[in-house]
Amino acid sequence: MYRTHNNGQLRAAHINKEVTLAGWVQKIRNKGFMVWVDLRDRYGITQLIFDEERTSKEVIEKATKLGREFVIQVKGTVIERESKNANMPTGDVEILVSELTILNQSETPPFTIEDDTDGGEDLRMKYRYLDIRRKPVRDNLIFRSKVAMAVRNYLSKEGFIEVETPYLIKSTPEGARDFVVPSRMNEGQFYALPQSPQTFKQLLMVGGMDKYFQIVKCFRDEDLRADRQPEFTQIDCEMAFVEQEDILNAFEGLTKHLLKEINGVEISEFPRMTYDEAMEKYGNDKPDIRFGMEFCPLTTEGGVVGTFEPKGFPVFDNAELVVAINVEGCAEYTRKQIDALVDWVKRPQIGATGLIWVKYNADGTLKSSIDKFFGEEILKQWAEKCNSKPGDLMLIMAGQKNKTQTQLSALRMYLAEQLGLRKSNEFAPLWVVDFPLLEWDEETNRYHAMHHPFTSPKPGQLELLDTNPGEVKANAYDLVLNGNEIGGGSIRIHDKKTQALMFDYLGFTPEEAKAQFGFLMDAFQYGAPPHGGIAFGLDRLVAILGGQETIRDFIAFPKNNSGRDVMIDAPAPIDHKQLDELHLNVVIKS
Ligand code: AMO
Repeated sequence: MYRTHNNGQLRAAHINKEVTLAGWVQKIRNKGFMVWVDLRDRYGITQLIFDEERTSKEVIEKATKLGREFVIQVKGTVIERESKNANMPTGDVEILVSELTILNQSETPPFTIEDDTDGGEDLRMKYRYLDIRRKPVRDNLIFRSKVAMAVRNYLSKEGFIEVETPYLIKSTPEGARDFVVPSRMNEGQFYALPQSPQTFKQLLMVGGMDKYFQIVKCFRDEDLRADRQPEFTQIDCEMAFVEQEDILNAFEGLTKHLLKEINGVEISEFPRMTYDEAMEKYGNDKPDIRFGMEFCPLTTEGGVVGTFEPKGFPVFDNAELVVAINVEGCAEYTRKQIDALVDWVKRPQIGATGLIWVKYNADGTLKSSIDKFFGEEILKQWAEKCNSKPGDLMLIMAGQKNKTQTQLSALRMYLAEQLGLRKSNEFAPLWVVDFPLLEWDEETNRYHAMHHPFTSPKPGQLELLDTNPGEVKANAYDLVLNGNEIGGGSIRIHDKKTQALMFDYLGFTPEEAKAQFGFLMDAFQYGAPPHGGIAFGLDRLVAILGGQETIRDFIAFPKNNSGRDVMIDAPAPIDHKQLDELHLNVVIKS
């Protein structure tokens, strides 16, 4: 037997017990006459003591030769510690060692394996298996397992069946590029890895499975960010004979259950907001509603609030939208602080041309960066419109509507972060509903499905497609948590005619539609039930429930920002023999 207990288990009640422990050497303190070793495993740390008077010379000598990360086994007696450590669950006791076996040696690790490490991100990713020995990383993985388990238990209790769908498939459009896999047995042909199991879960509904879920890997070749990985995990779900309301209720239930079970937070009912409202109020379709700072439009029919004619200020006179946010209690921002905000919005990532400020001073006077054009009377009207109080700071942006909304939304989030308003232990879920069906794509100069091409338009809106496609609303919804899109779904089209029409609107020829999705349209001819569903991003959900936003920290072996696994060094070239077998007659650049 390698061990009688683990390293997080022993307490004062175990004193005088003979135990065997195994684990990694985290730290060694050698005072010559006494050696202490911190022994670590997944469960915790236990202090070992080798004492000249009570441990044999031979064992002490062995102990002095231990190095960090050696794997050892010890036998000994649990004794009371002289100086107890209240910060450690095992801090009341230590093990007086009588036998020591070195199970494996270790090179000196490239970074310290402690909660605070000296290893940079790259180094830790290269030696991820060592990083995983660190408590913060290990705790995140254990947390992820707990969330996934809670999801499985809840959904299976609710009657959902977990069904696996294939990974070697044909392209499923979710808006990203596909990762493809060449087929050896079918020369010149390729599988695509699923961007999601979308079409398969719909086919399961045609197959009568009714309530399906799957915790499943998805693959998307897209640019990476803190909340995106090329392979990530979805909690993918689908139900038959449902309307939007049924889906929202079912998955509000799941999310509430997780918030309660994992975070001990009870939320009675999730608020809902239409996409249009979210854009007007927050300039964003995934607003963080843990704090206010709602958008306050200053443009009216007749021009900017409080004015009846252009004031010769071109930034406003030429703007489609002039919009403000009120930042509470920040009227005393210094010139330097405000300049820093202006510089921030002017960075290429945000791309604003400038930022206008209005200070509502504590003494009731108003001062702005555009005093030359707008007198205090007008500023006062803006303050009234924005519910600004003495002591507050108004920040204003102007320009083309969509751009200005996006830029001000970024500033709103930045300020909230700076002001500590995005509290990680507060949870604000929100359903965003009534998404547009289509979205204009500047690059290809045509409409794309905003969610995916299987999403149904709202009843009665199909006709609008001919006259006003941008206005058509979809039976599509997102679940937003703390400003992150953690899930999205829709009610699907379930008849062949409408689906064919949709492909037509999206620019597929009937031949292309048949080649790519003929299997789905064929299935729709055999009694497809009305159906709909949703998919949660498990990595995002776990990170947010864990009070963070970087999903990489909750993935055992993540990819870096260039999509590389630096530990196994992938992607990598393959040899010519393999290329030949795959019929890939390409010239590989070295
Ligand atoms: P969607 O594309 O909205 O919908 O994806 C669902 C959820 O998956 C998460 N997600 C990601 N997480 C990490 N890295 C990524 N690259 C990434 N891309 C998406 C998000 C998102 O909300 N088939 C549809 C669902 C449906 O209609 O039922 C789909 O995949 O949290």
